[in-house]
Amino acid sequence: MENLVIEGGLPLRGEISVSGSKNAALPILMASILLNGPAVFTNVPDLRDIHTTLRLLEILGCPCSFRNGRVEVSPGPLQSEAPYDLVKTMRASVLCLGPLLARLGVARVAMPGGCAIGARPVNLHLSALERMGAEFELEEGYIHGKCAGLRGAHIQFDFPTVGGTENLLMAACLAEGETVLENVAREPEVVDLARFLIRCGAEIEGHGSSVIRVRGVRALNGCEYAIMPDRIEAGTFLAAAGITGGELLLRNCPYDDMDAVLIKLREAGMDIIQRADGVLARPGSGGLRGVDVSTRPHPGFPTDMQAQLMALLCLADGSSMIDETIFENRFMHVQELVRMGADIRLSGSAAMVRGVEHLAGAPVMASDLRASASLVLAGLAARGKTVVQRIYHLDRGYERMEVKLQAVGARIRRVPADA
Ligand code: EPZ
Repeated sequence: MENLVIEGGLPLRGEISVSGSKNAALPILMASILLNGPAVFTNVPDLRDIHTTLRLLEILGCPCSFRNGRVEVSPGPLQSEAPYDLVKTMRASVLCLGPLLARLGVARVAMPGGCAIGARPVNLHLSALERMGAEFELEEGYIHGKCAGLRGAHIQFDFPTVGGTENLLMAACLAEGETVLENVAREPEVVDLARFLIRCGAEIEGHGSSVIRVRGVRALNGCEYAIMPDRIEAGTFLAAAGITGGELLLRNCPYDDMDAVLIKLREAGMDIIQRADGVLARPGSGGLRGVDVSTRPHPGFPTDMQAQLMALLCLADGSSMIDETIFENRFMHVQELVRMGADIRLSGSAAMVRGVEHLAGAPVMASDLRASASLVLAGLAARGKTVVQRIYHLDRGYERMEVKLQAVGARIRRVPADA
């Protein structure tokens, strides 16, 4: 176990390069299962969840290599079981379900348990795959799926589930006939997955809108593909410029995929300027001010930026109301921020944040990926020392965050937990 030790109060200044997107890379790597030839991926972030995905691919019969952001996958004779001891560490492992059923007609995937932010069921994935001819049994904590070949279907999701959309998109590529997916997720990472599949020979239309049409093909070929930049990492660093009163230039920032975040950060008083060499972010002349926000499926404000925005709003002038509508328990960062002097009151899915003069450093505990990012941001702005514990949560989704922050002036270091 390791901690991050932060001496806060310094404005960050300099350039940060945004890494490849974790939430695009995970489904795209999993889609390798569909291919009848090797694939090469670039701009793959060096993250725990990526290495977990590569381990799962190896177990499923797709040998992989990872070096300097470049991944090579050579799909071989497939196995059908994704074991619990791996799935329990990363619930996105369930994204192998659709590809395995499409290629093998059988899949045995451990039920991805819940996590700190919610129960995280996969009922929408299963009911949609059943419409394509799959049959499922749940026993001993495993999803047993089988089908005599998937057939195209007309599917309407009750909720625009990101993972459900990705599982069905991958399954439909090799199904018999046409599949229409309605009320699907419109996240940029879903679009990146579709673009990858199309480059492999899939016939997909409508990705990025609420209705996706897929005409099944007989086979998909390998190709080379660059993963899109991570819009959530980018948003996190934009917030870091705002909360520390500094100025950061983000390179490889997916500006066009971040409208809702940019709107809210500007409404909160930040200057964010798109330039030829990157995106420049700093607090505006009037300082930070409170804003109201509800998390929504894309193109709404992303739930993955909720905790980071909350940290920023703890130091804004005035009050903010934050409504978390996507996950039932995504306020684990609140009590830790309160321990640093934030004024936040919870009422159901809403958090009322009242801006305070300053935050005070304290030992705090990370509970999930974005909560840990929120605590790092608060520590960067707080007076005194903050020790963020259990930062393995952070390492799931941020590539060497402390190294990137050190390079723009942050006094932050990674130490063993018992140091
Ligand atoms: C993806 O999770 C992301 N993970 C999450 O990012 C992100 O927060 C989430 O989408 C929403 O944008 C990856 O892409 C790997 P959902 P996913 O299915 O696919 C309910 C991060 O921090 N639901 O859109 O699991 C579910 O309980 C992570 O990078 C069902 O009820 O999200 C939740 O309340 C955290 N039944 C809501 O829908 C289902 O079958 C959104 O879930 C599926 C989902």
